[in-house]
Amino acid sequence: MRVLVTGAGGFVGRALVARLIASGKRVTALSRRPEALRALIPDASAVRAWQPLEGPPPGEAFEGIDAVVHLAGEKVAGVWTSAKRRAIEDSRVVGTRHLVEGIRAAGGTGTLVSASAIGYYGERGETVLGEQDGPSGDFLSRVCQRWEREARGAEAAGWTVTCLRIGIVLERGGGALGAMEVPFRLGLGGRLGSGRQWWSWIHREDLVELIVFALDGGLSGEVNATAPEPVRQAAFARELGRVLHRPARLPVPAPVLRLLAGGFSWELLSSKRVLPRRALEAGFRFRHGELSAALQAIYGGPR
Ligand SMILES: NC(=O)c1ccc[n+]([C@@H]2O[C@H](COP(=O)([O-])OP(=O)(O)OC[C@H]3O[C@@H](n4cnc5c(N)ncnc54)[C@H](OP(=O)(O)O)[C@@H]3O)[C@@H](O)[C@H]2O)c1
Repeated sequence: MRVLVTGAGGFVGRALVARLIASGKRVTALSRRPEALRALIPDASAVRAWQPLEGPPPGEAFEGIDAVVHLAGEKVAGVWTSAKRRAIEDSRVVGTRHLVEGIRAAGGTGTLVSASAIGYYGERGETVLGEQDGPSGDFLSRVCQRWEREARGAEAAGWTVTCLRIGIVLERGGGALGAMEVPFRLGLGGRLGSGRQWWSWIHREDLVELIVFALDGGLSGEVNATAPEPVRQAAFARELGRVLHRPARLPVPAPVLRLLAGGFSWELLSSKRVLPRRALEAGFRFRHGELSAALQAIYGGPR
């Protein structure tokens, strides 16, 4: 199987590429900066330049391709200036539209696994959310809805499409833990806001396995990519402090977070209690289903 991967050099993409290559699958990567992927994919002919906002990927990128994994998109973390919001939206909506145009132009059929996010659901308090639950009206939810719609456009060309509504991805060296680890190690960690909001997370290894499961035909449609046990944010902070052997007693009040992170603070403070119903029904088994074991696996130490 040859898989075309966008966002291959990212936090999720580099683990996925390593997993695909280790299991004998061949990988072609699309990147805005192909030279940055040399260490990951030494075969230069397997890395193609693509500017997602400018148009479809070059036709050669699709030669011999059985599947596409689409992970590219502007980082959601950071201060949401109007330019940042535009980049978050356009990189996903326009970028996915162009990718699907490339898929259609290439002909043939295959499997598209496209990232989406639990941001689709918006702020939902205590409600337990499955894939059948509807979206909300906030910025990220609207982006996710349009992002998924563009990806599902490949179905008209006979492709099987899976949109993974990804939760907070956990591993060292990036994502939420990449941002939280230093303050926690310095003893400056604590809950965000009230800490009562639900955080739905997934160990990166499980996300990579879920993508492979979808590539192997195990899934289609919208699928929550979250561990079966979401936790309240205060419990998340407490557990992270415990595995790092540091106190987690310095809460960040919501107004301070809003001042520091602007619109993005909404994502940290909003409550999304998401369950991976469709993945479980399809027979996917999570290796890291419970937070304390997942964090222990990441940071080592006794189980
Ligand atoms: N990490 C999480 O916790 C999480 C949670 C929910 C959803 N997701 C989604 O899952 C996907 C992968 O996540 P990740 O954490 O691996 O992301 P990431 O590390 O930020 O990497 C994504 C890749 O997107 C490309 N990219 C960055 N800015 C871009 C822009 N403005 N326009 C087009 N492409 C751009 C980059 O590839 P090149 O430089 O090679 O082009 C980058 O390597 C993303 O779509 C993300 O929204 C992630």
